[in-house]
Amino acid sequence: PTPGRLKKTIVMVGMMGAGKTAVGRALAARLDVPFLDSDHEIEAAANMSIPEIFSRDGEPFFRLKERQVIARLLEEERGVLSTGGGAFLSEENRTLITEGGVSVWLQADLEVLWNRVRHRDSRPLLRTSDPKATLRELYDARVPFYEKADLTVKSDGQASIETMVDRVLEAL
Ligand code: S3P
Repeated sequence: PTPGRLKKTIVMVGMMGAGKTAVGRALAARLDVPFLDSDHEIEAAANMSIPEIFSRDGEPFFRLKERQVIARLLEEERGVLSTGGGAFLSEENRTLITEGGVSVWLQADLEVLWNRVRHRDSRPLLRTSDPKATLRELYDARVPFYEKADLTVKSDGQASIETMVDRVLEAL
């Protein structure tokens, strides 16, 4: 893509811990386009953190807001959009994303994901008695959906953020 110009928004999808936000932000900087983040927009609109939204209003409410935010961002602006790990599961969201953007699955192995999320407390879905087992269950259930993304880019434990940006640009 030409810096500063995109035909379609580049939408980062994949599991929590895959690097969607870090890589998406660096990719947007490299391309000189806006960086958009659906989780961040949901939090800003609600004036609450994601764990607070989940505990006060429940996951279905969060998913509703997520869909609205993704639709709005895809319509308003072209840039790089990082989505939450559950965003690409609903058919409605996939249709929105596929029509309005080009989806990039940041694929990472379970161990890599676990090492990145294990010390954080920001993911309400992992607040279980065995968060690693929960992550594995989510991973197994979600991979078939992520595989529907337009492009797949491998995120291993070693690759730097800038290397990941190179890989996405090669794939585009
Ligand atoms: C979720 C992932 C989170 C956030 C919410 C739900 C999920 O985003 O949207 O906690 O369903 O996997 P990240 O993938 O950025 O952690």
